[in-house]
Amino acid sequence: MMESRIRWTAMFALVFAFGLSACGGDANGNSADEAVAKSVDAATEAVDAATDAVAEAVETIEQELPEGVTVEMVEQGKAIYGGPGICSSCHGPAGAGIPSLGANLTDSEWLHSDGSYDGVTKTVMEGVTAQASTSGVPMPAKGGTNISDDDVKAVAAYVWTLRK
Ligand code: HEC
Repeated sequence: MMESRIRWTAMFALVFAFGLSACGGDANGNSADEAVAKSVDAATEAVDAATDAVAEAVETIEQELPEGVTVEMVEQGKAIYGGPGICSSCHGPAGAGIPSLGANLTDSEWLHSDGSYDGVTKTVMEGVTAQASTSGVPMPAKGGTNISDDDVKAVAAYVWTLRK
């Protein structure tokens, strides 16, 4: 959506600029210069509009995320999930879960919290005891890794976005 809007705005600016320069250059010698100035104005306006569209789109995405969570955190969390957090080894590469091991993180069912961002963060921070685990297999705190608390917040943000 965002990309097509930018592309559309840029196309509009080009067509507008060409149209204006094509109209210039009549008997009055100044009109060509005027047309160029107008084209530059139009292009500047289009760039401003595109910049606004990008800012608006980022704002929309962030409004849909829990408070305090940014798009960068989600991106960082995705890298931790399949990397140093080793979450994918028990929850599968896409978070769909592995039978008798890690729970499905992509459904709307939450076994160990209310599924809120804070709830998911707490589960990742503390892990799940063998008694609490439906498979009897415990989840060690932070997946048994030494990722930082900020890494936990980022990976929890990513997990939060996996829900259906
Ligand atoms: C050693 C395997 C293992 C690793 C590694 C692991 N988990 Fe888990 N995880 C589990 C198990 C087991 C459960 C509990 C499953 C159950 O109750 O059926 C669980 C539960 C969870 C839950 C709770 C799901 C719910 O429905 O409430 C979340 C969230 C979660 N893990 C996220 C993560 C994240 C993020 C990482 C990486 C930092 C991670 N896990 C690493 C095994 C693992």
